[in-house]
This record gives sequence, C-alpha cells and structure tokens, in this order.
Amino acid sequence: MSVTMPTVAIIGAQWGDEGKGKITDYLAEGAEAVVRFQGGNNAGHTIVVGENVFKLHLLPSGVLRPGKLAVIGNGVVVNVQDMEEEIRQIEDAGLSIDGLRISDRAHLIMNYHKKLDGAEEVYRGKRAVGTTKKGIGPCYQDKIARIGFRVGDLLEPELIREKASYVVPMKKDIMKLMGAEECQCTNESFSDRLIGWGEKYGKYVCDTSVLVNEIIDRDGCVLFEGAQGVMLDIDHGTYPYVTSSSTVGGGICSGSGVAPNKIQKVVGCLKAYTTRVGEGPFVTELTGEEELELQKKGGEFGVTTGRGRRCGWLDLVVAEHAARLCGITSWAVTKLDVLNDYDYIKVCVAYEIDGEQVKHFPASVAKLERAKPVYVELPGWKGWQESEEVLQQGFDSLPENMKSYIKFIEDYTHIPADIISVGPDRHETIDRTGGAWWN
Ligand code: GDP
Ligand code: IMO
Ligand code: MG
Repeated sequence: MSVTMPTVAIIGAQWGDEGKGKITDYLAEGAEAVVRFQGGNNAGHTIVVGENVFKLHLLPSGVLRPGKLAVIGNGVVVNVQDMEEEIRQIEDAGLSIDGLRISDRAHLIMNYHKKLDGAEEVYRGKRAVGTTKKGIGPCYQDKIARIGFRVGDLLEPELIREKASYVVPMKKDIMKLMGAEECQCTNESFSDRLIGWGEKYGKYVCDTSVLVNEIIDRDGCVLFEGAQGVMLDIDHGTYPYVTSSSTVGGGICSGSGVAPNKIQKVVGCLKAYTTRVGEGPFVTELTGEEELELQKKGGEFGVTTGRGRRCGWLDLVVAEHAARLCGITSWAVTKLDVLNDYDYIKVCVAYEIDGEQVKHFPASVAKLERAKPVYVELPGWKGWQESEEVLQQGFDSLPENMKSYIKFIEDYTHIPADIISVGPDRHETIDRTGGAWWN
C-alpha cells in the first residue's frame, strides 16, 4: 500500500450548509476525483466562480473542475429525474459530465419515496422533522428493508421487471394506507422507465469502490465531499430530527467502499456561527430581530427548499462532538465576513442542563430543549472590509479580533483552522497550509 495516500475528506461539522460546496470546489483543484458518499439531492451546495453561481444537489462539486472524476458512491441515493436537471445546468454552463461515475450499488429514489416522505411527515404532526421531501428517508428505509432498486439493476431488465412485480404493488398498498397521492404507474410502465434510464446512463455506472481505490493505491489524490452535517447524522445527530444517512467520518468508508486506514485528512467545515433548517433542538438559536439580522447578513435561505434557515451563535459543544466523531484534522472556518458588523460575538462553550455544566453533546432531545448555552463573549472586528490585498497577504493581515476568534476555536478543540473563508467566491479563501493538501 502507498505511504502517502493523498486523501482528504470534507465533513459538515454542524447542521449542514456550512459551505462544504465552496471548500470542496476549492480543494478539488488538486484532486483527481471528488467522491460523494452519502445523502442525495436533499443537499444544496452553492459554488460561486466569478459571475457564475452553481447550485448542486446530487452531483459532486468536482463536476465544475474540468478533467476531474465526479463520483457518486454506493452510500448515495440517486434521483435520476432530478439528476437530469442538474446535468442540464452543468452542460448549459459549457461544462461536461464526462467525468461522472455512479456506483452500481447506489440506491434509486423513486416517485413513491417522495410521496411517502410527505405522508410520513403528516403522520408525525407537530413532531414533523421538516424534511426536504426529496424521498431520502423512505429510500434508505427500502435499502435496509432489502426492497430497494440499485443503480446497477438498471442494466438488468429482467431483474427490474421481477422486482417491480412485488415492490410496485407493495408500495401502492402502503401509499393507499397512508393517504399518500396515488401512483398511476403499472408494473410494466415502471419497469420500462427504469430500463430507459439504464440505456441512457449505463455508461456512467461502475464499481466505484474499485475505481477510487485504484486511484488511491497509485497515489492519486481523492477528495470526499460530505453532505448535510454531523448533527444530522442518523446515529450521532439530534435524532429523530436528522437525515437518514451516516454523515460522520465512518460514513465515508461504508459509503464509498474505501477502508478507514486510507482516509488521511478530514476537514471539518465549520461556519463561524450556526444555522439549522427544519425542526429539532438548537441550543444557541437566536430569536426575533437578532435572528433575522443574522439570517439576512448571511443570506441564510435554503438552496434546496428556499426555507429561511434558523440562526444562532457558534456552538463549540457541537464542534467537539463533530471533531471526536469524525477525527477532524483541520477546520475550514467559513462565513467569518458575515460577522463583520458585530461589537461582540458570542461563542457557546458548555450547556447548563438542570443546574449542571455539560461539555459533551447529549443524546436526549428533552435535555437539549432544557439546555441553556454558556457563552463567552469575544470582541468583534466591526468595520473590517475584505480586499484583494488581504486575500493575497493571507492570515496575518486579518484583523486581530478575527484572528483571536479563530484562535479561540483552535484552543478549545485542539484542531488547527487551516482554511479561512471570508466570502462565497472560490478565491475568497485563505489557505494557511500554503496549499499543501496532497503531500
Ligand atoms: P453547503 O451545503 O455546506 O455546501 O453550504 P450551502 O451552499 O448550502 O450554504 C453556504 C452558503 O454560503 C452558500 O450560499 C455559499 O455561496 C456561501 N458561502 C460559503 N462560504 C462563504 C463565506 O466565507 N462567506 C460568505 N459570505 N458566504 C459564503
Ligand atoms: P447540505 O448538504 C441542511 C435537513 C432537513 C431536515 C432533515 C431531514 O446542503 O448541507 P431529509 O430530507 O434529509 O430527510 O431531511 O435534514 N437537511 C439539511 N439541512 N443542509 C442540508 O444539506 C440538508 N439535508 C437535509 O432540513 O431537517
Ligand atoms: Mg447546503
């Protein structure tokens, strides 16, 4: 096995929308392949390249860098119809999807998954998760129940027809029972459609574990792109207010067929404050005008659903949880520019729950709802403006109070903040490693 093993993973360290797309696109320059390993088109990754703004949901951010492989791993759930729209967006921008590769083991999201996603939310009532309604949960349910359709099935028409003969009637019965909108398809029309997808996209389908491992074993550079964030992880997040996949470091291995000892660096993407879309506990959440102000400053509106994101201060109890679970080796601290206009900035360093100070993120939603944030107040860098000069001169030219804020994060977590992001564009990035990611 190679000694260098140049692999880097990017993981959202909060509740998603930390700026993973931007950081992935930045690091993708030096990579040969960019690999998605979990989630589906519930993700919304915005990447700004000069005048062009790309909003990717399923496709790995590597598709924006010509000549790279953009790999959809086995842990991802794929909605072919929505993927077609995304491919159109890429091709309209004059880019090619020749580098796209889709795992034959990835599961397919069907229309019935989307309908059942909506119906389940109705049943949950006031305990609704606030899902993206993309069918993510129901698709993963079928994977575990062993009745899912896999991408590789698309190349085996007989298998599709056979599976459809029992899965389609089962789904129709369940939908009727749950009051979901009826599916008009027959077993035959359903199968024909899938076989058509196979004819169209079969050329992109392969064993992506073999592909990615071959690159790693000859010292090629591979970048893993996480979707969602640690706090939305099915096991370690704020269950049941989570997504249905493994968003933590271990998810990289199971979701891409790469062994743990081949993951070299893990970058935790950490927004300088916190946001969350959908329901569930959020200890440092702001309310009223304060929340609206931060939401407006940060442009915190969902890429996938358009919903306003809930906003609050940075929570280092969350950061510690993410660091421990994922083996984070560097932070990419994003959106620091959004905090430009504050006199003081609060950072949560512990929770007070039932009179006790807690430093490890608890499992119980009820406890989290009773938790009060313990804050440290740090002075802001009011009035600072980013400039080309600052970007060129790097970290040292940042305002002292911003550097102290970053140091506070580093000291609390014992992890260096190697990437600092002060704007949405690709070039608004300060890399304190000098670009030494693939050594
Ligand atoms: P992702 O889901 O983690 O990829 O994040 P999103 O794309 O959903 O949300 C992050 C938003 O912040 C996007 O609109 C990005 O263009 C933008 N963004 C990323 N980094 C920065 C930054 O450092 N400063 C500012 N102002 N915007 C940023
Ligand atoms: P990116 O990759 C933020 C949230 C939903 C909901 C919960 C479950 O852009 O960071 P799901 O549709 O996955 O069953 O919804 O997870 N959620 C996200 N929140 N960013 C995301 O992705 C998200 N993907 C799902 O809002 O609360
Ligand atoms: Mg997003």
